[in-house]
Amino acid sequence: MMMSSSQRNAYSYGDALYWDARYLADGSASFDWYQRYSALRPFVRKYVPVSAGVLMVGCGNAVMSEDMVKDGYIDIMNIDISSVVTEMMRKKYTHIPQLRYMQMDVRDMSFFDDESFDCVIDKGTLDSLMCGVDATLSASRMLEEVNRLLRPGGIYMLITYGDPSVRIPRLNQPGCSWNIILYIIPRPGFQSHGGCSSQRSIMEPVPLTKCGQLPAGFVLEDPDSHYIYVCEKEHGLLGIAQRDCSSALK
Ligand SMILES: C[S@@+](CC[C@H](N)C(=O)[O-])C[C@H]1O[C@@H](n2cnc3c(N)ncnc32)[C@H](O)[C@@H]1O
Repeated sequence: MMMSSSQRNAYSYGDALYWDARYLADGSASFDWYQRYSALRPFVRKYVPVSAGVLMVGCGNAVMSEDMVKDGYIDIMNIDISSVVTEMMRKKYTHIPQLRYMQMDVRDMSFFDDESFDCVIDKGTLDSLMCGVDATLSASRMLEEVNRLLRPGGIYMLITYGDPSVRIPRLNQPGCSWNIILYIIPRPGFQSHGGCSSQRSIMEPVPLTKCGQLPAGFVLEDPDSHYIYVCEKEHGLLGIAQRDCSSALK
């Protein structure tokens, strides 16, 4: 369920051919990267009403969307760059009308109108683009599209291995303006040894500095934790504080 740093460097995760080959090899198996819905459910239910129109970007063959429907969600559009996986998933879920699958590149979702979704969920897809060629341009296009598709007040929920030093400047690219709440959760199966002084509840947001960084001295109990960025699309004008920090964009 994890993308290790050696894996991240070894393959072209931004390449459709890589994913097609991988999904062909997987056959009918399913696989959820990073975390299963059961672990993410408290965050999803807190920020996304079951009536929301949800876009799952880079859905892969994860069971997350199916689990969300079992939990009451009624409208989940799933897209992925791999036609192999979207075709497999479409066939698998023909009996579940709440789930739709389309082959689409997250960098060009012009098929959808502006402000047509209440929520966009991304588990590992921005991460994939960040590992590909033209990573910066690809990520920037993806985030422009996500921002365009969300209605004001809508939520982009990003589940990633990327810590705020790399993800916050990226999220706050020109043209995007989010109110961001950050949560940090350990990898599945992580065993706490109780050696860390801060016994935080995972439902407690991690405070960010004015420039969107972790507080000085903040220690992760699991160094390979996952980060959940709950990004609410602001209504209207760009936030001044975010513009002040945008020069940190990498
Ligand atoms: C790390 S996997 C995550 C899959 C799934 N979200 C999960 O949590 O298990 C990344 C997914 O992003 C898809 N992907 C990569 N680049 C893409 C792009 N440009 N547009 C749409 N999907 C893309 C891949 O095909 C793959 O299914």
